[in-house]
Formats: sequence, C-alpha cells, structure tokens
Amino acid sequence: MLITLNKITKTYQVGEIEIPALRGVSLSIDRGEFVAIMGASGSGKTTLMNIIGVLDQPTAGQYLLEDKEITGLSRNALAQIRNKKIGFVFQSFNLLPRTSALENVELPLFYNSGINGDSLSGRQKKQKALEMLKRLGLSDRAYHHPSQLSGGQQQRVAIARALINQPPIILADEPTGNLDTKSSQEIMAVFDQFNKEGITIILITHESDIAKYARRLIHIRDGQLL
Ligand SMILES: Nc1ncnc2c1ncn2[C@@H]1O[C@H](COP(=O)(O)OP(=O)(O)OP(=O)(O)O)[C@@H](O)[C@H]1O
Ligand SMILES: [Mg+2]
Repeated sequence: MLITLNKITKTYQVGEIEIPALRGVSLSIDRGEFVAIMGASGSGKTTLMNIIGVLDQPTAGQYLLEDKEITGLSRNALAQIRNKKIGFVFQSFNLLPRTSALENVELPLFYNSGINGDSLSGRQKKQKALEMLKRLGLSDRAYHHPSQLSGGQQQRVAIARALINQPPIILADEPTGNLDTKSSQEIMAVFDQFNKEGITIILITHESDIAKYARRLIHIRDGQLL
C-alpha cells in the first residue's frame, strides 16, 4: 500500500482551547489512485493533507508511507521524504514572485541535489525544467514572471514545479479554487494525464465538477471520514 492511515487524530491547541480537527481517520490509498477529498469548510481537509504530505504530524495514530512508519522520524528525515515523495499544488499557486517560471520550476532540483545523490549540472537542470514547462504547454512563457501569467498558467507552472523531481504522489489542495471553469478543466486534464502515467493524485475540492475527474471520492465531515 502506498499510504496507510490508522486512527489518525489531530488536535490543535490554541491557548486553553483544544480543537479536534481529525478524529480517528483510517484510510488506505494505493499506487496510481486518483482520489478526491470533499467536505465543508473546517471539516479537516487541509489538516489531513498536511499529515499525508508530512508537513505536519498527527496527535495520535499511525501513518505508513510505502509501508514505512512516518510517525516519530526526525525533522530531517521527514524533509527528505517530502522532497522525494510528494509534490504539492496549492490554491494560491505559491510561486516566487520576482522569479521566472523557469526558475520556479528549477528550484526543487536545487533542494534535491545531494538528497537523491543525483547531481545534474546547471545546464541539465535548466533543460529538465524547460522540458517540464513544455509538457504543460508553457514553452513560450519560461521567462515570464508570475505576475505576467494568467491564473491557469501560474497553476501549470506550480504543477511543473511539483512534478520536476518525479515524485510518486501529488497532493493538491483546491488547485482550481482561484481559476475560472476553462482553466480549471485544463488543470484537471493535466492531472488526469499524469495520473494515467502512474502518479498518485490526492485532490481536495469543494466542487463536484472537479471531484468527478477522480476515480475515488472520499467525504470528510467534522474530522471523520463518512
Ligand atoms: N493551525 C491551526 N491551529 C488551530 N486550529 C486550526 C489550525 N488549522 C486548522 N485549524 C482548525 O481545524 C479545523 C480543520 O481545519 P482545516 O484547515 O483542516 O479545514 P478545511 O477542511 O481545509 O477547510 P477549508 O475548506 O476552509 O479550507 C478547523 O476548525 C480549523 O479552525
Ligand atoms: Mg483547507
């Protein structure tokens, strides 16, 4: 199994108040799945994604990624797993503003050098990033800055960046939340294509039009799966 969550709970502590964001979530996701997670605002979707993405640790429960225990690993080990295994796509794109599309896409290659032991030259990194931009139909936008791109183009740059290290998993938190219908459909077609090539996609969305691209639908309410 690619991802196994066993009775995961997450409780945020804000001053004296405890907020139970996840209340015993158990879930298995296989390699190559395309899963949509739906639920109302505040139901725990982002919290769940942060745990699956190793950005945050559960309060209790067990998380196995590729059958290996994640809970209790050092910060450094977690960062390495994140870099190698997971590409993130966010609603607000999160691109570096004063940097070209190309440089945004190249960036994870620099973070990753030394981790995987792969040592691409500067030229090879650039070449790889250009090829990824080309796949996403952005060859003629490589030297544009994010402010010079449409929302849909910015999100495609973000997807190129998420995929450049060839992670087996893409986590997308409302990736079409800031896009119009046409751009949203283009983004979903991109995810669909990468999923057909074997990448596991976990997508959070409010919209059933978007969720229908996934092959499995998971509903969450008040921190519990339905
Ligand atoms: N860092 C935090 N500290 C305290 N409480 C938090 C924190 N992050 C989230 N919460 C609370 O946990 C609950 C779940 O939040 P979460 O962000 O996972 O919801 P969501 O389903 O992603 O909502 P949305 O659709 O609005 O993005 C909410 O009640 C929220 O207020
Ligand atoms: Mg959220």
